[in-house]
Amino acid sequence: MNTTLLSEFEALLSAARDVRERAYAPYSHFEVGAALDTGDGHVFLGCNVENASYGLTVCAERSAVSAAISAGYRHFEAIAIAGPDGSVTSPCGACRQVLREFNPSMTVIYTTPEGPVATTAAELLPHSFGPLV
Ligand code: THU
Repeated sequence: MNTTLLSEFEALLSAARDVRERAYAPYSHFEVGAALDTGDGHVFLGCNVENASYGLTVCAERSAVSAAISAGYRHFEAIAIAGPDGSVTSPCGACRQVLREFNPSMTVIYTTPEGPVATTAAELLPHSFGPLV
């Protein structure tokens, strides 16, 4: 990630790394944290929450979106996602669709072994279906 972007989103990525420690991932041991920025001074956090019935797992990104929506915030400017060291933690397909719902232009930062990558929800999910206008 270029250094300007990195410094702009350093705090958000740090929040994602911190909340990652609260992940409930006893099955995959792949702990993920996400920090969602509303752009008006609020950050909502999420971590993955797994279940013995594996398919019920909720990803960190969707946990953060649920926290924000529950608190009354629906506009998001950026999300930072932090996974285990040495892994690429780009959002899964379901999370891409959920992020796109609220702002296709939102910045998405995710961790990789080579360092954080910055992209957008629209880039991650081209030709996407969205809310009817
Ligand atoms: N996971 C996330 O929470 N976010 C991602 O971006 C990738 C995957 C979770 C789901 C599951 O609990 C674990 O990581 C392994 O797939």
